[in-house]
Amino acid sequence: LRILLLNGPNLNMLGIREPATYGAATLQHIVDALQQQATAAGVTLQTLQSNAEHVLIDAIQQSYQQQDFIIINPGAFTHTSVALRDALLSVAIPFIEVHLSNIHARESFRHHSYLSDIAKGVICGLGAKGYHFALDAAVSYLQTHNQ
Ligand code: DQA
Repeated sequence: LRILLLNGPNLNMLGIREPATYGAATLQHIVDALQQQATAAGVTLQTLQSNAEHVLIDAIQQSYQQQDFIIINPGAFTHTSVALRDALLSVAIPFIEVHLSNIHARESFRHHSYLSDIAKGVICGLGAKGYHFALDAAVSYLQTHNQ
């Protein structure tokens, strides 16, 4: 089972960036912990962070028939990107949307997501644990749907 973790713009700044909102852990720390969880669960986890919308879109397109599930924190592209939505619809790979912060408790422009209605699930407001919950849910989903 192959899972792709995508992180969008400014998530490379975790640890430095608004720690009261996003936590003190760096993205590297989070990804290392997720790799351990993936290994323990017997799944392959590929990860990519990019500040560029087209790089995320290319990664989604390249996932066609190569990845079984996507976990994505699209950062601010959540609230702007019809193109990311279309890329996810194109490959028809099930995905979970993750946000560290509770986007519904923040500015109104963060309340809408272009991805949530086509996601298998959405996790927000639980900090880095949200990624772990998403990985756990992805593995369960694949175990029930892939054989
Ligand atoms: C975020 C929430 C977005 O609104 C914001 O633009 C981010 C991070 C989160 O993880 O809480 O960059 O996706």
